[in-house]
Amino acid sequence: MSIGVCYFPEHWPSERIEDDIEQMAAVGIEYIRMGEFAWSRLEPEPDEFDFEWLERAISLVDSHGMRAVLCTPTATPPKWLVDEHPEILQEEADGIIRHYGGRRHYCFNSEVYRRESRRIIRKLSGWFADVPVVAGWQTDNEFGCHGTIRCYCSDCASAFRQWLREKYGDIDRLNEAWGTAFWSQDLNSFAQIDPPRHTTAAHHPARLLDYYRFSSDSVVKYNRLQTELLREANSDWFVTHNFMSHFEALDAYDLCANLDFASWDSYPTGHVQVQRKQVSRAELRTGDPDQIGLDHDIYRSAANAPFWVMEQQPGDINWPPYSPQPADGAMRLWAHYATAHGADVVSYFRWRQCQMGQEQYHSGLLAQDGSPDAGLQDAMQAAADLTKLGESNDGSSGDDGSLTLPVTEVAVLHSYDNAWAIGIECNTPDFDYWQHLNTYYRALRERSVSVDVIPPTADLAGYDAVIAPTLYLASTDLATHLNAYVDEGGELLMTMRSGVKDPYNKLHNAPQPGPLRDLVGADIDQHESIPAKLESEVAYDGQQFNCSVWNEWLSPAAESCDVLGRYEGERADGKAAIVHNTVGDGNAVYIGTWPDSDLASRLVGDLLDRAGVETTKPLPKQIRFMRRNGLTWIANFRDEPLTVAAPADATWFLGDAEVGACDVAVTDATPPTLSVNGGCDGADDD
Ligand code: GAL
Ligand code: ZN
Repeated sequence: MSIGVCYFPEHWPSERIEDDIEQMAAVGIEYIRMGEFAWSRLEPEPDEFDFEWLERAISLVDSHGMRAVLCTPTATPPKWLVDEHPEILQEEADGIIRHYGGRRHYCFNSEVYRRESRRIIRKLSGWFADVPVVAGWQTDNEFGCHGTIRCYCSDCASAFRQWLREKYGDIDRLNEAWGTAFWSQDLNSFAQIDPPRHTTAAHHPARLLDYYRFSSDSVVKYNRLQTELLREANSDWFVTHNFMSHFEALDAYDLCANLDFASWDSYPTGHVQVQRKQVSRAELRTGDPDQIGLDHDIYRSAANAPFWVMEQQPGDINWPPYSPQPADGAMRLWAHYATAHGADVVSYFRWRQCQMGQEQYHSGLLAQDGSPDAGLQDAMQAAADLTKLGESNDGSSGDDGSLTLPVTEVAVLHSYDNAWAIGIECNTPDFDYWQHLNTYYRALRERSVSVDVIPPTADLAGYDAVIAPTLYLASTDLATHLNAYVDEGGELLMTMRSGVKDPYNKLHNAPQPGPLRDLVGADIDQHESIPAKLESEVAYDGQQFNCSVWNEWLSPAAESCDVLGRYEGERADGKAAIVHNTVGDGNAVYIGTWPDSDLASRLVGDLLDRAGVETTKPLPKQIRFMRRNGLTWIANFRDEPLTVAAPADATWFLGDAEVGACDVAVTDATPPTLSVNGGCDGADDD
């Protein structure tokens, strides 16, 4: 559990660098990430390298007892390289070139760029291979930032054709799988296929979905080129990549298969503004703990390893629509919250506000003149806290004293394929895959349940309960897999828009829920997307709840299936909205609409009760408990203090039962033995 920082020695005069690094050590920082975006300084002219400035910074890191993390500089090919090889640039779907001037202006499928990447990575990794202070590497930077996963250039066209050849083998198989009879789209050969460039109407959904898969695979392949070279140079190095929040276009599970652990870049007051339509006052100052927590859990689960926050928001930032100052203490709270979810290192971006370039309005732990900014105190405190916790905790750490992962009894199933496919034909402006997933994630987290977020095909045997939001694409294999889980006693909750399409993005040759019918035990007679004026309510367990966006009218088809909830009002009046089916030793519940947070909470509470998972009562939105390594973190994201009721013999490793605004306390008491203000009604604080 330690603190790091991102540093750019190339931005500062050399006399400043020594002071900076000395000060980093003094405030308790242990890891310093460098070298990102520095290609033009590392290789000012073709084949003329200058690594001395980086070597000097690295040796200062060493002499101050810290460790360095280096980055491959490939997110920013320098001007000389772009001029020599303009064909490496990415292309938009409408043929516009993504020119030099920003960053990420290269195509993953360019053979020239792959060659150039190999050249610089070999040189750099060879140079630093025997420098023990270098702990490991970050590949590139934020694959996909600025919408750059999907490129439409001619190199991508050839690579796509090859990808399809490998997948289908024969063009007739592709015609059949895609369904190309529609609108005269039959193809005679793979050579005829192009990327889905700018056209008149919507593109064919099967072609689009394969293009999205191909694009994600292209990044995975490009990343592998990098990890192989780094591991060849020094097999003791860790290799990671810094993902950004829930970027959808890149399949994190696939990329993580080739990393030692995942990292991600957390900017809570920015992400909440760009990913959500409505943001509360508290969230503008501290972010949404469940949005942050979901990413922590995705990236921890994706590599099944403790993760790093490679970039942690240090204060106000330049890129969201508004940049309010985070609450006092927020930068410390975020570091604790990440640690509680399984982070081993939280590294602030950046050490010092930059006086030049595109991010001048982005704070650092220090202001541009070197004076301390708001985040510095928080980072120092976080570093001291984490050291103290590390020393005092005799909890359930690993045999070698290392940190363990949170113990998880519940999984949420998440699939990029489903997000892509449903995005292609969303059929309503109001369905947002991530917000829908978050409805259920939130209901788990408000009860302090630790959650893995894993692909639908993952091994489910270890989980007492599983929630599967929107299994839009469903094959018979998936149905068999889920059936087996429930049959053996699993508790499964499935949600609307499941079992709609086959893996090629075509409707099944059977009504919804297609291959999931035996599991759900019901048919979906109709669906409708619902503007606010046409909304119904749902009666569940004697109470009315709101539901929105999408209604499916269910009718039980199996004897083992019973109706748990019905629509009230509007056209769906009286029809089944929620059904329950007994399968072997377990239960499957299906809900055909988007429930309000109260109904989601009730459904999830009932699921956990059936599964025998111990929980807290639902906590208010901005208060979260999280357990890891024999410790429970109480994280207060609100702007008012709270009092925790804890067992008399609880040990407090940090703080105590009176938790201040935007503050944190750590105890050994388990979440189900704790409550807030003597019990909580689950009220929101917007
Ligand atoms: C990240 C990126 C950094 C910096 C930061 C600003 O997305 O990795 O290089 O741009 O955002 O918040
Ligand atoms: Zn391309």
